[in-house]
Amino acid sequence: MLVTRRLPGDAVARLGRAARVRVWSAQTPPPDKELRAAVREADGLLCLLTDRIDARLLEGAPGLRVVSQMATGVDNIDLDAATRLGIPVGHTPGILTDTTADLAFALICAVLRRLTEAERLLRAGEWRTWSPDLLLGRDIHGATLGIVGMGAIGQAVARRARGFDMEILYTSRTDKRIPGARRVALDDLLRAADVVSVHCALTPETRGLIGSRELALMRPTAYLVNTARGGIVDEDALARALRTGDIAGAGLDVFAAEPLPPSSPLLDLANVTLLPHIGSASVRTRERMAELAAGNLLAGLRGDRLPYCANPAVYPDVP
Ligand code: GLV
Repeated sequence: MLVTRRLPGDAVARLGRAARVRVWSAQTPPPDKELRAAVREADGLLCLLTDRIDARLLEGAPGLRVVSQMATGVDNIDLDAATRLGIPVGHTPGILTDTTADLAFALICAVLRRLTEAERLLRAGEWRTWSPDLLLGRDIHGATLGIVGMGAIGQAVARRARGFDMEILYTSRTDKRIPGARRVALDDLLRAADVVSVHCALTPETRGLIGSRELALMRPTAYLVNTARGGIVDEDALARALRTGDIAGAGLDVFAAEPLPPSSPLLDLANVTLLPHIGSASVRTRERMAELAAGNLLAGLRGDRLPYCANPAVYPDVP
């Protein structure tokens, strides 16, 4: 089996007790060509969201019986191709919900109170004195939070927001009956929110969901936070909206291209807080994610149903 990076905890040791494991031990992902060559030989693949698992790669690996991704989102994997080839794909939902919601909420606080801007000012030696108008932000308490996508992480963010006495609006395909939160249409949420936080999955339907039209609906005093997937937001439109003051600022943990290219216009803007995709990055959660991914992989190799399967249609008894 192939593991595409070193993992926290003892997940790899556990896999090694079951079969021969090859670990890609560089700090960066295997380049496409190397990944294809290594997967060609593998019966099981434990991969990360940085690996592109497309139809060509899957078709070129006749012995591959299971793909197990150490992440919740699986937009880097061609699920239809995997299903067609009879390969179950594992993922790690649930365990990272609260850790990711913590980070989303940290970003909400950071942007409303301009924390990273304030720290940059201090480090640059520009803090002259306490001043009545230095770095005035927005109150978190009492602000209206718009949650786009009320899945597990969106709901965990709503719980935190209630503790901060925020007004909560959300969009969702179904009414989730969330206490203290009101389901509205996306346009109404964008018009009303002081801070919009994105929590839907990246799918063909949500790609580019927040584009120039949607950003234009937001208030000039409002902020956008994205801890889901970069592709949900049109990054060029966002950079324009931030530059022209169409919205007040943004907090981003995810980007259309990761790592964020040095040429990104976002890097030149002061009113955006940029994080390197650390939503689930706590010691405990990353260990549990690796553990769960190892469990999915071993189940697949044994021919058992994966405990957490992203393409259940691969099993004949699932319609
Ligand atoms: C991380 O971004 C994940 O989807 O688990």
